[in-house]
Order: sequence, then C-alpha cells, then structure tokens
Amino acid sequence: MTHQLRKSHPLLKLVNHSLIDLPTPSNISTWWNFGSLLGLTLMIQILTGVFLMMHFSPSDTTAFSSIAYTSREVWFGWLIRSFHTNGASIFFMFIFLHIGRGLYYASYLHENTWNVGVIMLFLLMATAFMGYVLPWGQMSFWGATVITNLLSATPYIGDTIVPWIWGGPSVNNATLTRFTALHFLLPFIILALLITHLIFLHERGSFNPAGLSKNTDKIPFHPYYIMKDVLGAVLAASMLLTLALYLPVLLGDPENFTPANPMATPSHIKPEWYFLFAYAILRSIPNKLGGVLAMFSSIFILLLIPFLHTTTQQPMSLRPLSQLLFWALILNFLALTWIGGQPVNSPYILLGQITSLLYFITILILMPLLGALENKMTKPPFI
Ligand code: HEM
Repeated sequence: MTHQLRKSHPLLKLVNHSLIDLPTPSNISTWWNFGSLLGLTLMIQILTGVFLMMHFSPSDTTAFSSIAYTSREVWFGWLIRSFHTNGASIFFMFIFLHIGRGLYYASYLHENTWNVGVIMLFLLMATAFMGYVLPWGQMSFWGATVITNLLSATPYIGDTIVPWIWGGPSVNNATLTRFTALHFLLPFIILALLITHLIFLHERGSFNPAGLSKNTDKIPFHPYYIMKDVLGAVLAASMLLTLALYLPVLLGDPENFTPANPMATPSHIKPEWYFLFAYAILRSIPNKLGGVLAMFSSIFILLLIPFLHTTTQQPMSLRPLSQLLFWALILNFLALTWIGGQPVNSPYILLGQITSLLYFITILILMPLLGALENKMTKPPFI
C-alpha cells in the first residue's frame, strides 16, 4: 500500500523520484556527497539565521549590542550564533569542493545544472558579504565601504549607483537595514535555485567517476545513497560542532569585536577567508575598473568551462597531464587565498599578479590545450 502511495501521490511522487527510487550510478564516490551536504548546510543557515533574526536589531546604534545580547543573554544564543558564523565557512568549504569535483570529473557537461550552480555561488557570496555587515563591527563597516565603493568604477553610472546602494553619502543606517532585508531574502532564492539545480540534474542523472555509460549499472538512491549521505552529514556535523564549540572565533577577524567607527579606519581591511582569492585578484590590477572586472571574471569564468572542454574522455581519471594541471590550479587557488590576506607590499604584490594571471591562463588556455593534446595521444589508431 505505502509502496503504491509513494509512486502515485502527487507530492510523495516528487520525493520518491528524487530521494527513493531515483536511479543512481553504483560507483559515485565521496565527492558526490558534497551536494547533499551543501543542501544540509543551507538548511542549517536558514534555521539558525531565523532564530538570530528574532533578536537582531538592525540599526546602526543597536546592531552591535543586539548581537552581544544574543550571545550573552539569549538561551543558547551563543551556540546558534556560532553555528551560523562557522556554518558560513563550512558552506564555502563544501561549495569549493563541490566545484572542484565538477572540474575534475567534467560534471560541468551537465550545462544547465552547472550554470544554475554558478548563479547560486554568486548569490551565496552576496549573502555572506551582506551577512558580515550586520554585526556592525569595524570590519563589517569598512569591508562594506571598500567593496561597495568598487562599484564607483562602473563607467558613466558609477558615481550615481554607489550612494543609491548606500542610501546616503556613505555606508550608514539605511545600508544596514537594506542589507538585513536582502540577507534574509537571498537564502530563499538560493533554495528555489537549488530545486532548479536538481530538476536539471535529474533530467539526465548524475555522472560518475569512471565517466562510463550513464544508464548501465544503476541502483536506487534509497537505501544506498541515503545511508552514504547520512554518514556524510554526521561527519560534517562533527566538523561544525568542533569549530563552533572548540574554535568559535578561529576563522573570524578580531577587529570585528570593536563596534563600527566611521572615524577610525583599521590598518588592514580584509574579508573573510572564503573571499580572499577574489580579493587577491581584485588587488592585483592597479586600475580600479580592471580589478573589479577581473574579480567578477574569476567567478563567472566558470560559465565558460563547458565550452572549453576539448576532450572526448569525460573525467580526468585517465588523463594524468590534466590531473597535474588540476592540482596546480588548486595550489594556485590556495596561494591566492593566502596572498589575499597579506598586506599590499613586496613581495605580495608581484606574487598576487603572477598567481592571478596563472589562474586565468590555466582555465582559459592550458586546460583546453592539454585536453586536446591528451585526446590526440590516446586516440586509437583505427579511428
Ligand atoms: C547552494 C549551493 C549548492 C547546492 C546546495 C548544490 C546541490 C547539489 C546536489 C544535491 C547535487 C547532487 C549530488 C552531487 O552530485 O553532489 C548537485 C550536483 C551538481 N552540482 Fe551542485 N549545488 C550547489 C552549488 C553548485 C555550484 C556552485 C556548482 C558549479 C559551479 C554546482 C554544480 C553541480 C553539478 C555540475 C552537479 C552534477 C554532478 C554530477 O552529476 O557529476 N553546484 N548539486
């Protein structure tokens, strides 16, 4: 009876097709766990965010102290805040790994799923940026000032849109209230996009690490991948608990424990760790507009990747040269992250310029070139 119901009920049918009877390759590895972990993290962020918002007072005179109140006086407020702050870091860790999986195994050949993913990444970055402004500490205020100011480089309308975004002549109370509204709204838009992401994915079904024919050797999602995803969730929850309980401020900036002061600029303004790669690329170009364009390109370049696939072999599993380049790209990304956190002086300026250039060259030129070369080398002579 229940068996029939899950296949015929209009709502249960949807759950059945995505989580129970969904035909799934039998060989997908741990790298395929990060999608469900990202979904879980999104849920944790929305849930903890709603509870934090209940005690948040979005005004430039009360925001900082309302957060302190939440941490000190609200029942388990400290824990909910710690989950939310560290949850953001975990979210980015998982999304970088998820994108890395996509690059290595050429999952980007699911073009629609990939493109929706890029939009989700951008919206996630916007959400995290605005969320960081809400506690109204020194780094919140000055980070918002630096980043919103970048838009003044937009030709013709630059000087008009920046005060329009601020709602005044500088980052002020109006900026804080609109960022609060958007920080609440955007996660729900990401949630809607996640459903789109999965609808596109389930249209063709997941790829697999071997890159072999997709319709042979499939098993039902439940119980095999429900079990595997639950195991992933337990490990991820342990990671979040360890961060939130033992190292709650490890990834934060001490400057943000000081309330925002528009009259005192911190000596080193830098974003959270997950933005450092883009920040390094931004600072590597002396021209403001050039820097802004390079920074946005570092994310939207992902949209070009499906067009730059030059090999008939899908994953990199059997392409050692591409594998080497892939790991070089990962190292380059880590180097950019490190450089983004350093002051703007020698040798970091030059290092930042070299690594930024390498990032674009690797993706736009070296990867397609090596793919084509490997294709030539591995083609059997009778074809
Ligand atoms: C809020 C962020 C995201 C969530 C919640 C999410 C969720 C998921 C889930 C649940 C899956 C299926 C399981 C898996 O293959 O891991 C998936 C697959 C996929 N995602 Fe995402 N994703 C997100 C962001 C992204 C981003 C930023 C990209 C790429 C730029 C991306 C590209 C893909 C691709 C290509 C697949 C298909 C993988 C394959 O079949 O080989 N996703 N995603």
